[in-house]
Amino acid sequence: MSKEKTVVEEATLTDVLESRGISRRSFLTFCSTMAATLALPVSFGAKIANAMETTDSRPSVVWLEFQDCAGDSESFLRASRPTAVDVVLDVLSVDYHEPLMAAAGHQAEAAKAATLKKGGHIVIVEGSIPVAQGGIHCTIGGRTAVDILKEAAQGAAAIIAVGTCAAYGGIAAAEPNPTQAKSVKDILPGATVLNLPGCPMNVVNLTATVVHFLTFGALPSMDKHGRPLFAYGKRIHDNCERRGHFDQGQFVEEWDDHGHTQGWCLYKMGCKGPSTFHNCPTVQWNDGQSWPVKAGHPCVGCSEPDFWDTMGPFYDRLPDVPGYGVDVTATKVGLGLTAAAAAGFAVHGIAKMATSKGADDDE
Ligand code: SF4
Ligand code: F3S
Repeated sequence: MSKEKTVVEEATLTDVLESRGISRRSFLTFCSTMAATLALPVSFGAKIANAMETTDSRPSVVWLEFQDCAGDSESFLRASRPTAVDVVLDVLSVDYHEPLMAAAGHQAEAAKAATLKKGGHIVIVEGSIPVAQGGIHCTIGGRTAVDILKEAAQGAAAIIAVGTCAAYGGIAAAEPNPTQAKSVKDILPGATVLNLPGCPMNVVNLTATVVHFLTFGALPSMDKHGRPLFAYGKRIHDNCERRGHFDQGQFVEEWDDHGHTQGWCLYKMGCKGPSTFHNCPTVQWNDGQSWPVKAGHPCVGCSEPDFWDTMGPFYDRLPDVPGYGVDVTATKVGLGLTAAAAAGFAVHGIAKMATSKGADDDE
């Protein structure tokens, strides 16, 4: 690994691309995709390409892992083949990442210390940070996660919390939170922390964030929860491919029923898409292959703060539908739209479905 890393550090981006068999056309396509992901005009693809190709400093990355399941590291590595996404992440100098680096023990700690001494690094944090009993529930090399994070944050050029645990405490912080798990921002209240929540985070959004940082020298704009607007500015519900079925009152009523086989809306099966902000429908997962709702499962709201406590039970429906007024349930929406549609459109299938789903669902 160290040999490969040396090659990466000395090579230009063009060299890296060629060594991986990635054509310039693929790279430019990647840059255009990043511009689209960042909600920038298409013309910014060229600006991104130029910034990536001409950058002469590859920021060091210190990836800290605390109370977590390593799902975000898995997401980081998740690519079925070498892609331009891999390359852009590879050309960063990932100097410290416990599960991935060859070094261990004192060697690993020395590598981190050398990076922190230089400063200007990017800190990526995965997992929550426990503070109960002086932080003893998560220690590495005899030091608490709290100490390690505070040290790494000093002199950092950017701090990125990946996954819901680092962003908001995650499952470790769910009631009764026995370790008093905290988020990165809780530990570093005065610092600018960009959150990429999700269980796990989507590597496309991490890539786009890094590309934005390398291109513009700054982190992207964020919402009140510290999430970049390009990725968390819209509700799942508003981009969902099943939205048409929601609007027509066509809902899955139980697993493997007719509606489920037809791809109808999963609201009644507990979908939290109407209350969840994330770009899953557009970016998707596994090289853009699919996402939870497309696979037939409701969104559980994994990118929202405290979702373990506030979005459960996962298979219970939301009490109301944002955008339609308080206490307006899916059945009422469906019935209301059906009534309106009956005036001028062919609605016999919808009306049959809406009226057969009785008033017992309608509160
Ligand atoms: Fe999609 Fe869920 Fe909204 Fe239905 S409730 S349209 S499945 S996001
Ligand atoms: Fe999470 Fe919902 Fe996306 S469960 S992965 S925010 S579809």
